[in-house]
Amino acid sequence: MREKLEQIRKEALQNLADVNADLEEIRVRYLGKKGELTSVLRSMGQLSPEERPKIGQLANEVRESIEQEISRRAAQAKDLLLQAKLKSEKIDVTMPGEEPSVGHLHPLNRVQREMEEIFIGMGFSIAEGPDVELDYYNFQALNIPEGHPARDTQDTFYISDKVLLRSQTSPVQVRVMEKQKPPIRIISPGRVYRSDALDATHSPLFHQMEGLVVDKGITMGDLKGMLETFAKKMFGDSTRIRFRPHHFPFTEPSAEVDVSCFVCGGCGCRVCKGEGWIEILGAGMVHPFVLSNCGIDPEVYSGFAFGMGIERVAMTRYGIDDIRLFTDNDARFLNQF
Ligand code: PHE
Repeated sequence: MREKLEQIRKEALQNLADVNADLEEIRVRYLGKKGELTSVLRSMGQLSPEERPKIGQLANEVRESIEQEISRRAAQAKDLLLQAKLKSEKIDVTMPGEEPSVGHLHPLNRVQREMEEIFIGMGFSIAEGPDVELDYYNFQALNIPEGHPARDTQDTFYISDKVLLRSQTSPVQVRVMEKQKPPIRIISPGRVYRSDALDATHSPLFHQMEGLVVDKGITMGDLKGMLETFAKKMFGDSTRIRFRPHHFPFTEPSAEVDVSCFVCGGCGCRVCKGEGWIEILGAGMVHPFVLSNCGIDPEVYSGFAFGMGIERVAMTRYGIDDIRLFTDNDARFLNQF
């Protein structure tokens, strides 16, 4: 019986040494109610009284050593599992985090806001008008009746005979003057549309900023001084401006206004195409017909207006040579601003 017990111990411990051993199965096989050790113990009645306690003691030792080994292996397995879990779920809190990328303003919005800031600083407020506009506001009230050649240069998209996408921000002048009596001092930034094919310098959708000042005794000198202040703030202190005679149906007299090239200072370079000057806007004194159309007496009041392309200002400012870059949505371009 002694041998039988030793053999059980040896066999059980051997089985337990296997890394894949099923601990519960081994426990049942040796220590369970019908287990091998139990059946040996059951047959102890056959032993002599002297032998019984010795065999009993040995049997207890065998059971204990098997139990111990089982619990040691169980603890080991649990530990291994925990280690594996810790390893797979490891978080290194010292690792640099993934920085959420924060966007920034589109270069056009940025330039627009800068322009707004400059004019707000000179006492202007912002007025808005609809993109979908009546022919009356976009053309007729601005002294451009049907059939007028100025319509050709501002051909746009028509929703019906009388409704169109505005080709300029000038209709906002009319809308403001209809509602508000002088003194008026507004700027109006926004989208404008023209049925132009898309190329490096043309786009069917672009942005303009209109300006309008109406009061008693407003002169061309006021226009010039105000634009000069704007140009210096926008393009740098040494910037000069120049007026060239031009024609707009809604201003009289009218001018196109250039700024001295901020790259070469006026000597001529690649940016100004050798001119020394860059055209940035159209301007003039509000035509008396336009004032009357809006119920403002041109004998009492006078005013000036100007309009400039925001893309044009941004392109000049940053040396961008293709208007399509603004809408291509290419992060390599946008990240530069
Ligand atoms: N609206 C004109 C254009 O789009 C610009 C302009 C505005 C000219 C105001 C004079 C006065 O060409």
